[in-house]
Amino acid sequence: MLGTGEAGVLLGENGMDVPLTSGETAYFNYYWLRDNCPSSFDTETRERVYDIFAEEGAPKAVSASISAGHLEIAWAGSEHLTRMPLETLAGYAKGAKRSDSANLSRKPWYSDHYEEIGRFSYADLTTDKTHIRNWVKSMLTDGVALLTGLPDTDEALLDVANMIGHVRPSYFGRVFEVKTHIKPTNLAFTSKALELHTDLPSEDAAPGVQFLHCRANSVDGGDSLFVDGLAVAEDFRKLYPDEFELLVNTDVPYYCEHDTFDMRARQRVIELDEYGNISGVTISQHQADIFDLPQRDLDRYYPAFCRFGRLMQDDKYLMQFRLNAGECIVFDNHRIVHGRAAYSATSGDRHLRGCYIDRGEMRSTFRVLSGEGRFK
Ligand SMILES: [Fe+2]
Repeated sequence: MLGTGEAGVLLGENGMDVPLTSGETAYFNYYWLRDNCPSSFDTETRERVYDIFAEEGAPKAVSASISAGHLEIAWAGSEHLTRMPLETLAGYAKGAKRSDSANLSRKPWYSDHYEEIGRFSYADLTTDKTHIRNWVKSMLTDGVALLTGLPDTDEALLDVANMIGHVRPSYFGRVFEVKTHIKPTNLAFTSKALELHTDLPSEDAAPGVQFLHCRANSVDGGDSLFVDGLAVAEDFRKLYPDEFELLVNTDVPYYCEHDTFDMRARQRVIELDEYGNISGVTISQHQADIFDLPQRDLDRYYPAFCRFGRLMQDDKYLMQFRLNAGECIVFDNHRIVHGRAAYSATSGDRHLRGCYIDRGEMRSTFRVLSGEGRFK
């Protein structure tokens, strides 16, 4: 049964047509309108406290009208009245994803990026949150930033990580020490060259953001190698669209096994975000498990995989530099591929202290520092 509300609101069976301030009319479902009534949200916790599961029947409006920039609804079988700002409705009128200040365009970079890296001093970060916001902005657009002037303490790494998130442990613990270990469980803990990779794809959710605080670096060699996986994947999409689709859609197994752990997970080499844009890559030859795909499928997959791996090693993309004591490189572990040149372990000291945080928390920090939110 159709009915006409006041001021041009048209009531239907499952929802209503509402004239918005833009002059357009948009349809809204009754469940959605009732569930998202402003009264559904607790003003203190800001969480939804209304329980739509407890409603016996489908919500249905008996009348609706526009008044002072709000849609006012009276509900059937209930005393409840909803007063919803038209501005809120406009944001959801077209089924578009909610706007997000942290959804910044990623900017691909190439071998010459070292001079352009966003640099932020520890002193500035500890005194003014604007610098923390700008640091996260660099992380969201470039996927990498360099922090300078960190004190030579164990706490310094945690201090900076806690500015934009909480440290999330891996199976190596809360922090890890990249130096020559006597009984290494990982290539990083040796002085050998470390091929380009992203960290720990053998975890269900590989770490989001990696911090490496350089405490000492006086060895011969040991340059840091960084590549923007986004830049490589964007070129790969243009050059080899079919292979690109394969790497986007095929899960491959990764592992990390030693005496006390046996981690396994499946990942896709090229990752897309919720908008379908390339968000990054997951790649690690030393943690790639024996591919257990049907052998016939590997006839297509392996050439694509190798073609991508070779493109990634092209000099066009390789940013090589020396990380100095007191610096901390921070990078998106789902986008930036990193490695290390071999070094001479007897020529001096090389010690990086590392940890991870999640990307979701980093984006949360950016929104908060940008003043965005539904409850502002
Ligand atoms: Fe690594």
